[in-house]
Amino acid sequence: MARILIVGASSGIGRTLGLHAAARGDTVAFAARRRELVDAAAAEAGGGAIGLVCDVRDEASCTAVVADTVAAFGGLDAIVYATAIDVLVRIGDASAATWTDTFATNVFGAGLVTAAALPHLKESKGRAVYVSASSVDRPLPGMGVYASSKAALETMVRAWQSEHPDLCFATVRVGSALGTGVTDSWDRDLLMELSAGWGPKGYVHDNGPGGPMTVDQAASAILAVLDSPVWLREVTAVSDPGRDNYQL
Ligand SMILES: NC(=O)c1ccc[n+]([C@@H]2O[C@H](COP(=O)([O-])OP(=O)(O)OC[C@H]3O[C@@H](n4cnc5c(N)ncnc54)[C@H](OP(=O)(O)O)[C@@H]3O)[C@@H](O)[C@H]2O)c1
Repeated sequence: MARILIVGASSGIGRTLGLHAAARGDTVAFAARRRELVDAAAAEAGGGAIGLVCDVRDEASCTAVVADTVAAFGGLDAIVYATAIDVLVRIGDASAATWTDTFATNVFGAGLVTAAALPHLKESKGRAVYVSASSVDRPLPGMGVYASSKAALETMVRAWQSEHPDLCFATVRVGSALGTGVTDSWDRDLLMELSAGWGPKGYVHDNGPGGPMTVDQAASAILAVLDSPVWLREVTAVSDPGRDNYQL
């Protein structure tokens, strides 16, 4: 059974992934900024799971979250970087602070956590998995800053793979998974304005491939990448129209 650190695990896909992993016997560290939520996730997961407070915008915090996981579990078999913020903003309106915070959270933190985890993953011949977005190649209007950060994240993951070919660095592009916290910050009026064009222009679908999926389905796709006997390095997870997907 694997020892897994999930960064961005206080809510949404990361939290659900941790619960799935713990349910089949993995030992999970749930990390994010909100202590009460990571502690609650760990308590729900059981099986030796722990909650760790981490702000990925802070280098020392990225180092500490890995060190604390290794100290608790005696090693590390996988990291999953599910952390992200998604500020809804027209790209021309994005402030320097929005650009900086988005890239610090979605990209730089991933690099810092990976650097701290690398010696432990080398020891266990482990895997590192990063959650990207299926919209990365065709950014939805209002999500250009976010999509830019995901493109940078994906290239960064390839750079890790190229410098460390002995380990698996995987990206999972996830389609729309409703019911997570990633949209909590969105301005509702701006959302109404922008989203009016998303359906007609084919950016979102109510059903069919590319339609919304459940958080459980998104988590299952990531678990499959962690479990596969072969390396699945660049995967896109979209909804299956034949399944019971999220109902709008
Ligand atoms: N939901 C979707 O439709 C969708 C689609 C494509 C891709 N994704 C990707 O899926 C991943 C998970 O997102 P989600 O939808 O599950 O959203 P979510 O519920 O908001 O999860 C994001 C996680 O990131 C953590 N986080 C944010 N800033 C952080 C920071 N500075 N330091 C440490 N942790 C931080 C949050 O916890 P705290 O606030 O407690 O720190 C939370 O646990 C993200 O990479 C997202 O881009 C989601």
